[in-house]
Amino acid sequence: MPERKGTILIVDDEVSIQMLLSKMLSGKEYHCQVAGNAGQALSILAAEPVDLVLLDIKMPGKSGIELLSEIKEQYPNVVVVMATSVTDINTAIDAIRRGAYDYVAKPFNLDIVASSVGRGIEKRRLELKLRDYQQNLEGKVAEQAKEIRSRFLGAMQSMVFALEANDSYTAGHSRRVSEAAMAIGKRLALSDDEMEDLRWGSLLHDIGKIAVSQSIVNKPGKLTDYEYGHIMAHAVVGASIIQPVVRNKRIADIIEHHHAYYDGNGFHQKIKGEDIPLLARIVAVSDAYDAMTSTRSYRAALPRERALAEIRKGIGRQFDPLAGNAFLGMSVAEIVPEKKEILVADDEPSMRLLVKSILSGSYTVIEAADGQEAVEAAMYQQPALILMDILMPRKDGLQACYEIKANLATKEIPVVMLTAVDQELNKKLCAELGADQYLTKPFSPQELLDTVNQFLKSPQ
Ligand SMILES: [Fe+2]
Ligand SMILES: [Fe+2]
Repeated sequence: MPERKGTILIVDDEVSIQMLLSKMLSGKEYHCQVAGNAGQALSILAAEPVDLVLLDIKMPGKSGIELLSEIKEQYPNVVVVMATSVTDINTAIDAIRRGAYDYVAKPFNLDIVASSVGRGIEKRRLELKLRDYQQNLEGKVAEQAKEIRSRFLGAMQSMVFALEANDSYTAGHSRRVSEAAMAIGKRLALSDDEMEDLRWGSLLHDIGKIAVSQSIVNKPGKLTDYEYGHIMAHAVVGASIIQPVVRNKRIADIIEHHHAYYDGNGFHQKIKGEDIPLLARIVAVSDAYDAMTSTRSYRAALPRERALAEIRKGIGRQFDPLAGNAFLGMSVAEIVPEKKEILVADDEPSMRLLVKSILSGSYTVIEAADGQEAVEAAMYQQPALILMDILMPRKDGLQACYEIKANLATKEIPVVMLTAVDQELNKKLCAELGADQYLTKPFSPQELLDTVNQFLKSPQ
């Protein structure tokens, strides 16, 4: 059956006219409905979508003009063509003023009726298309804004990871803080939107440290008040870096207030208690815990129990009771998820460092500098996943991958090939040698994480 060009409602009190128009328009692939009066017409309009109404002006009961006004009020997008006798042109003009699209004169010239209906239907089609386009456009603009936002946040995340990877004491700090913060958020049953902002805010909470002078950070001995203030300004600076592009107050608030004390006695603090945004209070707990349990240049890491005792002691003073108690109520596995081992085989130390800085929060990263080392590490350390560069000295990645996949003891370990050349041939070769996945350099931290998490469910 050919596709219908549209639905037309013929409203006329004369059955012979209904039949005449209906027969002619059905022959032109329109779907036709008929009504003998205003009441019937309105019930059809309410029951099904109609594109065009062919409306007789003179009808017993409610006139065509009255019905026209009602249709235009209730269904402004439906096209109305009036049918009127040649002697009644003034009424037809009045109808056009009231929103009718066109009029056709009785007795009908069927060609004129068909052409008026055709134009009316085309007008309606274009209007619908325009409406769709506008709605689509709004959606596209919103999508693009989201894309720009997440690209910017991703770039900031890379910067934080690179900054932390420079210093073995802080490597992986933001990722671990984020994981613990997310676990607290989950326990407090935050909404999906809040969890998303918590994730970004916690990952980027120390972004302001890019503005902190390294000579002050590395200064041996006690800091002066000025120096301490300079370091603590990283919170406000970080928020001001993020806010102009991301325009998300919740993320900016986490960054700005992550060092705030619940009782208001933190450094240069203006707000306290529940005035400090909840997500910032959560990050304050996970940040302090990670700082305490990591080794720093000036002190060793505190044992877990000691750090937890410190959090307990600080509740109501430094820490929010809600976030603090949620944290203390978590199991060890929730706070410190068991870390799977990932082997990164690459002859470029900078690439190994990059991978390490991205993954070390959630995974333990072990390294191999060439294919031979990779094959041995796969055998003896049994990592959960291998990231393998292709061009390496001694034994290249393709050969190493082949050997790992040919060995019964290592063949189940997923291998992801890393390469700078995005070539179909390379991909094919990798797949034939048993590689499970292929990742092209340069990749974003999120791309690497997504690829890894595909194989090893990320600990949350
Ligand atoms: Fe900080
Ligand atoms: Fe921090």
